[in-house]
Amino acid sequence: MQTDVNGVSLRYDVRGDGEPVLFLHGFPFSGALWEPVLERLGEGVRAIVPDLRGMGGSAATAVAEMEDYAADAAALLELLGETRPVVVVGMSMGGYVALAFARLYPERVRALALVDTRAGPDTAEAARGRHETADRVLREGSGVLADAMAPKLFAPSAPEALRARWREVMAATPRVGAAAALRAMAGRPDSSDTLRDFRRPVLVVVGEEDAVTPPEEARRMAEAAGGAPVEVVPGAGHMTPVEQPEALAAALRRWLVALPPPGVVG
Ligand code: MLT
Repeated sequence: MQTDVNGVSLRYDVRGDGEPVLFLHGFPFSGALWEPVLERLGEGVRAIVPDLRGMGGSAATAVAEMEDYAADAAALLELLGETRPVVVVGMSMGGYVALAFARLYPERVRALALVDTRAGPDTAEAARGRHETADRVLREGSGVLADAMAPKLFAPSAPEALRARWREVMAATPRVGAAAALRAMAGRPDSSDTLRDFRRPVLVVVGEEDAVTPPEEARRMAEAAGGAPVEVVPGAGHMTPVEQPEALAAALRRWLVALPPPGVVG
């Protein structure tokens, strides 16, 4: 489905009935990243799955901040008449957006699941690198991204077909959207305090072999969240939703069914 939010044409999917769960994908992918997890999640969930602006089927803007992606998600929930507090599940850049969402709309968040992501900001060097990559993507296309990122994303045991599929998605990302997201990630603030102040349930999930946001980062994030549980997924790198969807869906399911009822602060 397609709709206009905040002046941007956004593609999204809504699946199932039950407690609302907003799924935010990583960079530079699309809501399709969640497909294997949604297939295995079972009933009782209303999954709301946007393509973040500038990725998948959503239109790009030349400039964006993490808060813009969060505002798009909030506007989409409004459009869908979803007024209940939602569980937000964010993978990698989707985690950065989830934390911006929790900062901007704390009353709208029931719980947070942070998958293969981090709460801290970029180092100055990493941010510089992102700006350089954004310039190159604008000049040469998103193939540059696919070349730079593909080798780091998967566990060594990941099948070649899986790598090839997601490499194609990366290379097909519109260059303006990819460059804007790179600059948005470079400029994102430290969200550790957001997590510290959140005081609702948090789940942290990380691929055991995640080389982009490794398990140490996940543990730091869980500490900032006041000792949140950490699920380390064997056989997954950074792309846990597509590398080990069964394990991720099971971890989410266990956590979702044990959440305090909506409205009760856990
Ligand atoms: C992602 O998967 O969203 C990106 O790798 C995150 C990042 O580069 O920080």
